[in-house]
Amino acid sequence: MSEFKRHLVTAALPYANGPVHIGHLAGVYVPADIYVRYLRMRGEDVKFICGSDEHGVPITLKARQENVSPQEIVDRYHAINKKAFKDFGISFDIYSRTSNKIHHEIASGFFKTLYDKNIFIEKTSEQYYDTEAQQFLADRYIIGTCPHCGNESAYGDQCEKCGTSLSPTDLINPKSTISGNPPVLKETKHWYLPLDKYEDFFKKWILEDHKEWKANVYGQCKSWLDQGLKPRAVSRDLDWGVKVPVKDAEGKVLYVWFDAPIGYISATKELTNDWEKYWKDKETKLLHFIGKDNIVFHCIIFPAILKTEGSYILPENVPANEFLNLENDKISTSRNWAVWLHEYLEEFKDKQDVLRYVLTANAPETKDNDFTWKDFQTRNNNELVAILGNFVNRTLVLTNKYFDGFVPERGSLENYDKKVLDEITEIRKKVEYSLENFRIREALKEAMNLARLGNKYLADTEPWKIIKQDENRVKTILNISLQITANLTQILEPFLPFSCSKIKTFINFNEVNWNLIGNNELLHNGHKVGKAELLFSKIEDNEIEKQVQKLLDTKLQNIANVSKLEPAKENISFDDFTKLDIRTGTILEAEKVPKTKKLIKLLIDTGIDKRTVVSGIAEFFEAKKIIGKKVSILINLEPRKIKGIESQGMILMAENSGGVLSFVHSEGEPENGSMIK
Ligand code: MF3
Ligand code: ZN
Repeated sequence: MSEFKRHLVTAALPYANGPVHIGHLAGVYVPADIYVRYLRMRGEDVKFICGSDEHGVPITLKARQENVSPQEIVDRYHAINKKAFKDFGISFDIYSRTSNKIHHEIASGFFKTLYDKNIFIEKTSEQYYDTEAQQFLADRYIIGTCPHCGNESAYGDQCEKCGTSLSPTDLINPKSTISGNPPVLKETKHWYLPLDKYEDFFKKWILEDHKEWKANVYGQCKSWLDQGLKPRAVSRDLDWGVKVPVKDAEGKVLYVWFDAPIGYISATKELTNDWEKYWKDKETKLLHFIGKDNIVFHCIIFPAILKTEGSYILPENVPANEFLNLENDKISTSRNWAVWLHEYLEEFKDKQDVLRYVLTANAPETKDNDFTWKDFQTRNNNELVAILGNFVNRTLVLTNKYFDGFVPERGSLENYDKKVLDEITEIRKKVEYSLENFRIREALKEAMNLARLGNKYLADTEPWKIIKQDENRVKTILNISLQITANLTQILEPFLPFSCSKIKTFINFNEVNWNLIGNNELLHNGHKVGKAELLFSKIEDNEIEKQVQKLLDTKLQNIANVSKLEPAKENISFDDFTKLDIRTGTILEAEKVPKTKKLIKLLIDTGIDKRTVVSGIAEFFEAKKIIGKKVSILINLEPRKIKGIESQGMILMAENSGGVLSFVHSEGEPENGSMIK
């Protein structure tokens, strides 16, 4: 399969500022794991590298929010994620971390080498500084008013309201989030990697020599190169990270995107003494599995570092995926909009493969995709249970029933039998082709076709109907079904490792070897298979509803969190206030105004009269449920026509920061007509 002697596969190091979620899994870890398991089954020499990315501003911010040290944050999430990956069957050869001593040494060694080779440009610029906290402020530590939309809490790098990218000096009235003070501009020196000098190299290396890269990856690189590369700062003023190892660099650390990818190298070195052959020998095929937001770092910046260092190989391919959304909304750690892996593993015990399957079948390979709990349920029930589970179960039940679990000898083959057996090799070829081109979802679909084929074979040949007349024919059919089952344990292994081990236990078979696929004699005549136990179980509506409810709760929580209370209004005179005639009243009648979303027509007993009021409250209350409620009503508001109805006053309600309305009176008291003053 390859001109290479060995493979080194890396998966993006997740930030240890939060738990891993389904977006990370679908985009990076599941496809990487499938690919690596496939390589191992082919007998390739492969190392699969990952670990926690433990530096950078997201981590110091999280630490500040929780008032703990950055080390405490990374220790917590490193442990959670390491365990979750393992329990989920992501088969890293090592899961390391960038706060390790060995990583600090290697990363600072890289910087030193480049520094000594005079690669960097030293440049002084003005950056925002907090004089009280005595530190320079990373973009995320500065908030102010967005010049585009007026949002008062835009960050120094981006306004989350209108989505514009910003730089800190764009903000109107900038403030430090540490002290709350306006920051001052102060000079600071940094080291820049002169990417512009390597533009020609990258144009050739990517645009000419790697036309086979995925269109999304190639396209992003091309657009960076078309716009022209600029020198990029590789140091920061921060007290968390790898110290810049040169003179006069007090308080400076390496930019997180300088040190993190070097983490792949440190982890390999930690894993094996033989690390250099994986990183420096041209016969190693280096592959980086990443998400689309990491493309420029893995295709341009990290290769520039490796190339200028001089002794390293460059990646052969960078199979980056697009993003997975959750129930039609962007996954977000800060908004808690995600399905967290460690929580999934607790709530869906023993269902690792279901999530692996759904995320692969729906992988965002060429465009963003959406995960929904409904789709999760449907794929489990209609595909894993109804196709794969059903086929394996029927084959084993029938073998046990008719032949006491002994693999029967097959007799002469009909054309249909031959076609089915030949098809296994055809499917294998398609799966290989798809995997080798990083079309993992297509590969899964092809592999599942073998289970579909088996199911159809049983349905067409109906052994349960002919067992009485033609036992020999049934022997052939079940022999073939058992060979398909054994082949399934190999071809599905990269995708569904937990289920494949179960099936292998059922059939007393324990090979793991890709080259067996297509073999018709994996289970010999007279081999004893066991009973089928549960492989997949149906997921019921209530399990799914529970998850959907959890997400709805998050939505409500987020509305309450992001919305701010209105500031106090300008003062008014007492005379202004006494002009208002506010009474208590009772709602006598209520009906929705037809063809409107928000309006309810109310009849209100004000104590002094009964009057009609049209009120915009229908989003929050059902008309018939508010009859009898006490309200305050402003009765001397000039009447006005709303949707053809004259509204004679206005009822008063409390509106919270999230825009949600509620009544302000309790039932009964006070009597109608009481004046509020
Ligand atoms: N932590 C980064 C992210 O989650 C990925 C780092 S990949 C590495 O986007 F190459 F820098 F390690
Ligand atoms: Zn804005």
